[in-house]
Amino acid sequence: MKSNTEKFGKAPHQPSLWTRADALKVHADDPTTTQPLVSADFPVLSNEVFIWDTMPLRDLDGNITSVDGWSVIFTLTADRHPNDPEYIDENGNYDITRDWNDRHGRAKMYYWFSRTGKDWKLGGRVMAEGVSPTAREWAGTPILFNEQGDVDLYYTAVTPGATIVKVRGRVVTTEHGVSMVGFEKVKPLFEADGKMYQTEAQNPFWGFRDPWPFRDPNDGKLYMLFEGNVAGERGSHKVGKAEIGDVPPGYEDVGNSRFQTACVGIAVARDEDGDDWEMLPPLLTAVGVNDQTERPHFVFQDGKYYLFTISHTFTYADGVTGPDGVYGFVADSLFGPYVPLNGSGLVLGNPSSQPFQTYSHCVMPNGLVTSFIDSVPTDESGTQIRIGGTEAPTVEIKIKGQQTFVVAEYDYGYIPPMLDVTLK
Ligand code: FRU
Repeated sequence: MKSNTEKFGKAPHQPSLWTRADALKVHADDPTTTQPLVSADFPVLSNEVFIWDTMPLRDLDGNITSVDGWSVIFTLTADRHPNDPEYIDENGNYDITRDWNDRHGRAKMYYWFSRTGKDWKLGGRVMAEGVSPTAREWAGTPILFNEQGDVDLYYTAVTPGATIVKVRGRVVTTEHGVSMVGFEKVKPLFEADGKMYQTEAQNPFWGFRDPWPFRDPNDGKLYMLFEGNVAGERGSHKVGKAEIGDVPPGYEDVGNSRFQTACVGIAVARDEDGDDWEMLPPLLTAVGVNDQTERPHFVFQDGKYYLFTISHTFTYADGVTGPDGVYGFVADSLFGPYVPLNGSGLVLGNPSSQPFQTYSHCVMPNGLVTSFIDSVPTDESGTQIRIGGTEAPTVEIKIKGQQTFVVAEYDYGYIPPMLDVTLK
């Protein structure tokens, strides 16, 4: 077997570290990095289904793409059960919170289309029942890869296991709407290897998912980002000087933070079509800081690599914390070194008065950030909530060097195209 040095002509990169010292700089409620309050009277996309992770159709360079004037998004989706006895509580009321919390176990990929980049119409399921090999269809990326309308949907097949897979189909348009055809044969691409990326056998709470393929603007090769955890038995990771960073006196105690081991993974395609992949060492690790760096994605701007990833308050390690939201890092070249944006990494977090209002942010190359509404308090104390399961208002950020600023807010689920492809 060839070594990485033989294959790439240089030693493999060192992962960049998101350190505990960086995370100590995270401050909720800084207005320049906080999502505006989402009002509890939000509209819902559908009374039949919950939606959460939103995946706009795009090309391999990251451009959000419409086809024949139709915008298309894919969403993780699950039926709502307002009349199912299983979700009726002892007072005879629909327990929407429990229904919502159970959604991950029955997540399916659906698509929606629109003429306006909002007011989405439900297209339906992307794959018929029985096509996907596992119970759950988890997040990924739909790529329009030619002018014939061919689409590669990369996603995660979960339970049993977690496998990064792809399925090929085609988008077809008429003057009345959009349909997806094909999407009949799912091809497994790769799973965690236990050497660079943690496996289920090493940690039952492992994460390995959320593929985001892209063409590197500099070397032109096809790569893929994904979410992982650093390989090794649960509890065996070391939180040393490098992971701690430069902290003030009194901040050296790392508690049980060895259990938090998130990383942003990267793989390179061995072929043009993206059917044959090789995992490389992580781009970024968060050992001792956070256990989940989900849905990693790039914005290529000003010759730099802006790496974004979503994370939660509950996945932070002992002694560090931050809001649910999107975090970011920047480098001059693909393999780093990456430094946290805004010093801390925080780019757009929920306000502390509404800590679960939105999640699963996707920063698009035009600076617009889409996310979904999770739950919004309906009373002062925050004990009463309204469940979302729908698109959040789109927020615009400005990215300037190593800093970002919230500058505008738009309509719910506003995802305008950056280019339109006329299908041949
Ligand atoms: C983010 C996420 C993804 C995963 C999906 C599961 O909201 O946790 O990482 O693919 O949701 O529902």
